[in-house]
Amino acid sequence: MVELKKFTREEVSRHTAEEDIWIIIDNVVYDMSKFIDMHPGGVFPILEYAGKDATEAFYGMHRQEVLLKYNRYKIGTLEGETAQITIRQPGDNSKVPYAEMSAFLGYKSPYYNDSHFRYQAGLRKICDELKAEAQECDSAGDRPSDEFAKKLGQHHLLAAHVGPGPWLHNIILPGNVPGKEYDYFHDMITHQEFARWGTSGLVAGLTGGMTISLPTILNYGKPALKEKLVPLLLSGEKRMSLAITEPYTGSDVASIRTNAKKVEGGYLVNGVKKWITTGRFANYFATAVKTEKGISMLLIERQDGVETKAIKTAYSPSAGTAYVTFENVFVPDANLLGVEDQGFRVVLSVNFNHERFMLIAQSVSAARNAVEECFKWAMQRKVFGKRLIEQPVIRNKLAKMIASVESCQTWTENIAYQMNHMNYAEQADKLAGPIGLLKYHATRMMHDVADDACQIFGGRALTKTGMGKYIEDLQRTYKFNAILGGSEEIMADLGVRQAIKKFPADARL
Ligand SMILES: Cc1cc2nc3c(=O)[nH]c(=O)nc-3n(C[C@H](O)[C@H](O)[C@H](O)COP(=O)(O)OP(=O)(O)OC[C@H]3O[C@@H](n4cnc5c(N)ncnc54)[C@H](O)[C@@H]3O)c2cc1C
Ligand code: HEM
Repeated sequence: MVELKKFTREEVSRHTAEEDIWIIIDNVVYDMSKFIDMHPGGVFPILEYAGKDATEAFYGMHRQEVLLKYNRYKIGTLEGETAQITIRQPGDNSKVPYAEMSAFLGYKSPYYNDSHFRYQAGLRKICDELKAEAQECDSAGDRPSDEFAKKLGQHHLLAAHVGPGPWLHNIILPGNVPGKEYDYFHDMITHQEFARWGTSGLVAGLTGGMTISLPTILNYGKPALKEKLVPLLLSGEKRMSLAITEPYTGSDVASIRTNAKKVEGGYLVNGVKKWITTGRFANYFATAVKTEKGISMLLIERQDGVETKAIKTAYSPSAGTAYVTFENVFVPDANLLGVEDQGFRVVLSVNFNHERFMLIAQSVSAARNAVEECFKWAMQRKVFGKRLIEQPVIRNKLAKMIASVESCQTWTENIAYQMNHMNYAEQADKLAGPIGLLKYHATRMMHDVADDACQIFGGRALTKTGMGKYIEDLQRTYKFNAILGGSEEIMADLGVRQAIKKFPADARL
């Protein structure tokens, strides 16, 4: 490592001319001479701090990552002074109270073991390293590249998204965790770590479509189909979507109209699907169709007659949200998932609990990230000569945010524990209702957190870059989790209806 030069404050104060201008941030000296004309904030703010300590002014207007990005202007440090501000390095957990799950901040927990801690540490590092690429892709609205998908595949993180199961059994996951150990706490960590990118569109496009659709093949695909496709999908070489919703029908799945007519050796499919996540980029579509006596699930490969058109949504086009049309598409019998006319069971049984669990984990993580952002911002932003945190109203908002996130996290952990200890039949019987209620609660919580976070950040909550970029993403996209995977109303209703079924006939006030 090259030893940085040491300067005194007096020495720095002599560099004040535009062509020879130094500033101090924390204990570091930056030479701004080559950067001043390119500075996005203009020449004047830098001139104002020429030769001076700009730490407080800097942190009032920039994220720390700016310093990492422009590290090349660093020329030395101050003699006899040590850093007062820690620059977060890739892989570091935050030390800010409530910025991490309590077990990861040193509190006791009955749920987590060494394997969970190792996995989180390994995954945090990978996610941090890929974060800049993810954020660039999301803000440009690009298709997540094959190379990027393959990087996730190499770390087995596409497989991890699908949840615990035999597809993980012979692999080693981040943190040196054998795939066989992967349980619903690891799974929760997976979805939470990816949500920290603040790129909900990109994450949906890269992993969302596959996570909700692949179980149809894993659990109901014929052996030859599984053998051929699963490795391609889990390595990131191919993409897949779940195509159920139609322009005519969303919540009411039984009313779909896409038709599959039985012909020799297969089916002829005609119809339209709407809102299909990853659809623009998908090679395969697990598709709900009407067959003679009910609904069936077919795996449809992209081919002539399959068209995908982008739907512009509030989140990034990197989600690949698509309108998908099937026109006289032939689908061989080998691509029937499960039993003809019993596709409804395939969809219901395979996906919904896990999809909802994923959306809950993402929601809690995005809200927790907002807590950290708001806490830091309130501590460093000065308005009317005081830090925001000195205003009781701001502390009150922060209190509400923290309490909401922590209570949702605790319920999520309880559900993860139940999922770990119940077989599939028991989960279907006992957990669909609570998971529905928790999803409803988590997205209502997100609504409140996004609202408070916007007020704490002010105008910066509405700009896509700079200080408020995570809050901007949250307030623009949190509604997605409230609609997809079962909307709030349907989730709340499901929870109560399931409870009514278990209501004892002899109970009275
Ligand atoms: C960005 C995005 C991505 C999506 N990705 C996919 C995907 O990959 N694959 C896929 O198949 N689908 C996908 N969907 C579809 C999603 O699952 C549906 O939007 C959702 O099921 C709701 O259907 P709908 O929008 O047609 O609303 P509708 O069913 O028309 O309902 C409209 C509103 O009325 C409420 N409502 C409906 N019925 C009741 C009731 N009985 N009681 C009280 N309130 C009710 C609902 O809560 C909703 O708020 C996606 C949607 C979006 C927006
Ligand atoms: C190492 C030194 C600096 C670097 C690398 C730097 C870089 C940047 C960058 C990249 C932005 C765009 C916004 C963002 O991405 O966050 C920005 C904005 C800005 N910078 Fe700097 N800057 C530096 C020092 C300073 C200093 C000392 C000041 C003095 C107060 C300053 C004032 C501003 C202002 C006012 C803006 C606009 C902020 C806004 O739009 O809200 N910068 N700077």
